[in-house]
Amino acid sequence: MFTPRFLTSAFLALVCTQWCAAQGPYPGQIKNLVTFGDSYTDVGDPGDNATAWPVYAAMYGNFTLYPYAKAGATCSNYLTPRLFPSVFEDELPLYFTERENGSLVLDLTDTMYTLWIGTNDVGVGELITGQQTPGVTLVDTVSCAVDWVKVLYMSGARNFIVQNMLPLQLTILYSAYSYPNRYWAEQRNTTEWNVFMTEMTNTGNALSAALLSALTPTLTDAHLGK
Ligand SMILES: *[C@@H]1O[C@H](CO)[C@@H](O)[C@H](O)[C@H]1NC(C)=O
Ligand SMILES: *[C@@H]1O[C@H](CO)[C@@H](O)[C@H](O)[C@H]1NC(C)=O
Ligand SMILES: *[C@@H]1O[C@H](CO)[C@@H](O)[C@H](O)[C@H]1NC(C)=O
Ligand SMILES: *[C@@H]1O[C@H](CO)[C@@H](O)[C@H](O)[C@H]1NC(C)=O
Repeated sequence: MFTPRFLTSAFLALVCTQWCAAQGPYPGQIKNLVTFGDSYTDVGDPGDNATAWPVYAAMYGNFTLYPYAKAGATCSNYLTPRLFPSVFEDELPLYFTERENGSLVLDLTDTMYTLWIGTNDVGVGELITGQQTPGVTLVDTVSCAVDWVKVLYMSGARNFIVQNMLPLQLTILYSAYSYPNRYWAEQRNTTEWNVFMTEMTNTGNALSAALLSALTPTLTDAHLGK
């Protein structure tokens, strides 16, 4: 979208440094990569015509890719209503339907699940412009992402990577020096958006780390990286 690809790569390298250093799957264990999220992970139509990261990761790691991420997604359209598929109302249901009807057969000990969500949850049309379902806050959208781990764990999944939100305040859309663009052409106070977005990405990522740390002791036999 509006984020240079190198940010994505740098981020993945960081995840691996932390994840690989901790006790995780053994080398060669992971054979399948199942991805959830928004346009940053959607393999259908990378905005810049480049290679979507899951395609690259699957090639690099020799994984079979099962991509469920959809452009425009938030974690849940009940929390942040949008005219796009969401993780909980569309992506997970499709995954479970395919598992139940036998069209998707996976050995779950060999399978890594990833979730990269939040950009649209906190972004224009949702939290930053106050258009979420009344009463919904960052606490709800981040808890929703943590619930993705719970739901998949209950169904037998054991290997997870939960990806951080980008420092969205550094993108054109949310910079103090922002200008009219395809995502927002109306008047706004760019300083205010930049300050608010900085709070949301930093607080959201720290909250999900805390919630996941509290959750992991209950996930027997699971590996979880962030
Ligand atoms: C992507 O490819 C299409 C078709 O070749 C081209 O029209 C479009 O300008 C390209 N977009 C970018 C961002 O390079
Ligand atoms: C890649 O994965 C397939 C299926 O798991 C396996 O048969 C093959 O040996 C692997 N190739 C390499 C180079 O590791
Ligand atoms: C299983 O469900 C998926 C998603 O609805 C569908 O595309 C697929 O054709 C179904 N397969 C079978 C064998 O019913
Ligand atoms: C924009 O927001 C900043 C930070 O709240 C404030 O200092 C500034 O006065 C605002 N500018 C305008 C034109 O309202």
